[in-house]
Amino acid sequence: MTIAFIGAGNMAISLIRGLLETGTAPTTIIAADPSQEQRTKAANLGIKTSEDNNTAIRQAEVVVIAVKPQIAADVVKSLDSITPQQLVISIAAGINLESLQSWLPNNQPIVRCMPNTPALVGAGMTALYANAAVNPAHRSAAERVLEAAGKVIWVKEESMLDAVTAVSGSGPAYFFLLMEHMIKAGTELGLDAQTSKTLTLQTAYGAALMAQEATESVATLRENVTSPAGTTEAALNKMLEQHVPKAVVSALHAAHQRSIELAKEFGKP
Ligand SMILES: NC(=O)c1ccc[n+]([C@@H]2O[C@H](COP(=O)([O-])OP(=O)(O)OC[C@H]3O[C@@H](n4cnc5c(N)ncnc54)[C@H](OP(=O)(O)O)[C@@H]3O)[C@@H](O)[C@H]2O)c1
Repeated sequence: MTIAFIGAGNMAISLIRGLLETGTAPTTIIAADPSQEQRTKAANLGIKTSEDNNTAIRQAEVVVIAVKPQIAADVVKSLDSITPQQLVISIAAGINLESLQSWLPNNQPIVRCMPNTPALVGAGMTALYANAAVNPAHRSAAERVLEAAGKVIWVKEESMLDAVTAVSGSGPAYFFLLMEHMIKAGTELGLDAQTSKTLTLQTAYGAALMAQEATESVATLRENVTSPAGTTEAALNKMLEQHVPKAVVSALHAAHQRSIELAKEFGKP
């Protein structure tokens, strides 16, 4: 499988690095980017590079659109040499299938993805949605590309990608906010900043790992670590008093709404 990346930015480089680490031959990957700096970063990984998007896609079976959503329309429309024999994978946030289809030849197999930032460290969460032209081999190819940066799941309806955006797409920032304020509170309680950071990050990592491995729900895990009249209960009561659960739910609704609006801004024509 030969893969062409259109745009060799942060996300593309992470995917390429993951693909190489999982055994993909560097000679089967090419990245196109107008920036010499980005092409050098890609070339340093041992892959081929090109300044020209159409040159890059010529030999490729899979074409990954990895440019910013604002320029996706111009970039995709200018892929003159693309054919329906090639699978297009778009990671551009908010660019819907209707728009992608209108910019590409009829019957183009397209997989639209919503990755998240931890993909940059190989711990990403990507949701994928395929159009009707995508066959089982295309699905496997798309999984292989995105699994290079973490976990993947398929959603059955494209509209679910707005919900995915609200949960996992924007999700890292919610945890960063919580960590930021836990670190700050730790220093207010007398810890030095580095110690407070170490305690916070390892706790976040441990909690996520425990929740992933547990058979119980996260609500049960929370109950299990909350002894009556203990320290955790004192903290959680304060969070409830300050309506933290309600704030979290309305935050995700706001992200969902914004995702729908952005799709309209970046979409057709
Ligand atoms: N980073 C994330 O965590 C994340 C999460 C979810 C989704 N995404 C999506 O992934 C996509 C890429 O994000 P990113 O963070 O990797 O952005 P990025 O670092 O800005 O990468 C985009 C690259 O595309 C290049 N480019 C600009 N014009 C081009 C053209 N005409 N043809 C080919 N390449 C061109 C840019 O070069 P210049 O720098 O010279 O402009 C840049 O190197 C975005 O659509 C974003 O929505 C990213």
